[in-house]
Amino acid sequence: MIDLDDNRTEHEAGGADAGGSSGKPADDHLDDGSITLTGHHQRRHWRESTISDDDLQDRGGVFFAAVEMTRMPMILTDPRQDDNPIVFANKAFLDLTGYEEKEVLGRNCRFLQGPRTDQEHVRELREAVEGGHAVSLEILNYKRNGTPFWNAVFIGPVFDTEGHLLYFFASQLDVSRRRESEDARRHSQKMEAIGQLTAGLAHDFNNLLQVVSGNQELLERDLVEPKARRRLEIAQQATERAARLTRQLLAFARKTRLNPTRLDLSKSITDFADLLETTLGSTIDLRLDLLRRMPAAMIDESQLETALLNILANSRDALGRGGTVTISTATRHLNGDAPALGLLPGDYCVLEIRDTGSGMSEAVRARAIEPFYTTKTVGKGTGLGLAMVDGFVQQSRGRMEIESVEGEGTTIRLLFPVAGPEEAGAPAAPRTAAAPVQAGRQSGTILLVEDSDDVRQLAHDQLAEAGYVVHTASSGDEALDRLDELEWKIDLLFTDLIMPGTTNGLKLAQRVRDQAPEIRVLLATGYTEDLVGEAKADGADVLGKPYRRSELLDRVGAAITRNNEEQRRMPSDFGAAEA
Ligand SMILES: Cc1cc2nc3c(=O)[nH]c(=O)nc-3n(C[C@H](O)[C@H](O)[C@H](O)COP(=O)(O)O)c2cc1C
Ligand SMILES: Nc1ncnc2c1ncn2[C@@H]1O[C@H](COP(=O)(O)OP(=O)(O)OP(=O)(O)O)[C@@H](O)[C@H]1O
Ligand SMILES: [Mg+2]
Repeated sequence: MIDLDDNRTEHEAGGADAGGSSGKPADDHLDDGSITLTGHHQRRHWRESTISDDDLQDRGGVFFAAVEMTRMPMILTDPRQDDNPIVFANKAFLDLTGYEEKEVLGRNCRFLQGPRTDQEHVRELREAVEGGHAVSLEILNYKRNGTPFWNAVFIGPVFDTEGHLLYFFASQLDVSRRRESEDARRHSQKMEAIGQLTAGLAHDFNNLLQVVSGNQELLERDLVEPKARRRLEIAQQATERAARLTRQLLAFARKTRLNPTRLDLSKSITDFADLLETTLGSTIDLRLDLLRRMPAAMIDESQLETALLNILANSRDALGRGGTVTISTATRHLNGDAPALGLLPGDYCVLEIRDTGSGMSEAVRARAIEPFYTTKTVGKGTGLGLAMVDGFVQQSRGRMEIESVEGEGTTIRLLFPVAGPEEAGAPAAPRTAAAPVQAGRQSGTILLVEDSDDVRQLAHDQLAEAGYVVHTASSGDEALDRLDELEWKIDLLFTDLIMPGTTNGLKLAQRVRDQAPEIRVLLATGYTEDLVGEAKADGADVLGKPYRRSELLDRVGAAITRNNEEQRRMPSDFGAAEA
């Protein structure tokens, strides 16, 4: 049996005095990096060694062959010589760094360091080397061709039997790949956290904006004095801007209500061309290089328009005095490379926007899609433009890529999956199908369910003023009580989707549909949860917050009218006449 915990803690193996080498096991001495260096626990390898025979020049034995064969880079330096130069480097070290043997022998190892090497790491190495003890850490090094890599380096001293320091031994390992995936994971966790925070904020914000804009609309009709009306107008414009900002936040957080339809990207760009040109202004040339007969992709066209405007606004800012923006479309097939891009294999529609502007430094490019990251002066940029684009594209199951060279220009590339033949467009938005706001007084009984007091009050006033009989409840459970009181005799249930308590809007709608299928249901929501998909699948209408008074009345009116029409069309008990 092999006993791992025998007492060979100090010197082990042949023993230097007996003519072999011996060493001190690492145990858990190098607790910083020694465990992760090669990915497994390292206790028994030596952290320092003692040799009886300074046989550096003896290259005839199997141990020398082993060192030249291993894929682990290894070197020896001689601290007795000036500046501790390399006196031996194995083949794997040359492979790793790209240098030739004669280029490294005689030099101190610091030639591997470069502009972005952390001086704190260098200091740790220096202290260990000066103190003659072992060290293990990860340091940014550079290959001969300038490529940076993360080097997990272990250094340990080699003594003679009298305890004089003879050499330092070191092994190196390129751990760049592991660090990159760790960085990517950290980054995506950070974005996820910001996304959740943003979505929560935007949701509350939507409710507030609903109250602000709704009351502004009511006020608009009461105000006659021109100066007061002008002030109200300014306030309304600011509210509209705030609503736009909230929409961008929701897009970034991938919580926008998307209404995807089958789109030909080339055709959409042609349709937007005038608007795009206006955005860029007259000093910038807009070129279109559009593939004819693009396959369709499922895309929300109005979000696509916003995304394009965000990208073009950036190009405009980066171009300053003038230059060219080229928008092109193409297709791309992704196969084995798809997972690395975070996409499913298949065909993609590609939309590319290239400008000849100032471009971005590597540091700016790396952060450009972060929400609130901007290099523009205060008041000029919110830093949400690309964050919105990225969120929207991801929500559309695609991907955004940024390429940029400082001083040369920037390319933004959007990939969207080609729509399958079975993917039909979303049913025509009820918005367009809705009857226009009816003039005059409306009739019908509505149960309004909303947890925010202000929003509920506002919607109540708007609906009651239009002539509806409005009952209210502040939660799903309360709504069920009210329905019992009203003996389920209402025309429309108008409920918020997300509410505290055991009965959310969706559950409430389900209950109503089960118990009284003749009651129409209209759901209001500030953002899509997966719930909205479910709700839509169930045939419920969804009204996005913040909504305008006119929108509210349109949708409520349409729902109630449809209800009446359907009742009129109920089949007769006698069935259709047969010939
Ligand atoms: C055996 C040995 C191997 C070393 N390997 C590396 C290495 O791979 N990468 C690195 O950046 N520094 C390495 N160093 C550290 C540098 O040679 C040097 O000690 C360090 O830069 C601190 O000293 P300085 O401040 O004089 O540059 C190694 C040092 C020794 C003794
Ligand atoms: N085409 C481009 N050329 C050069 N730099 C760009 C380009 N697009 C984006 N950037 C850089 O990325 C940063 C973030 O862009 P983003 O659109 O997200 O925010 P913003 O433009 O600063 O503000 P906002 O779009 O919210 O008004 C910009 O501040 C700019 O530094
Ligand atoms: Mg921008």
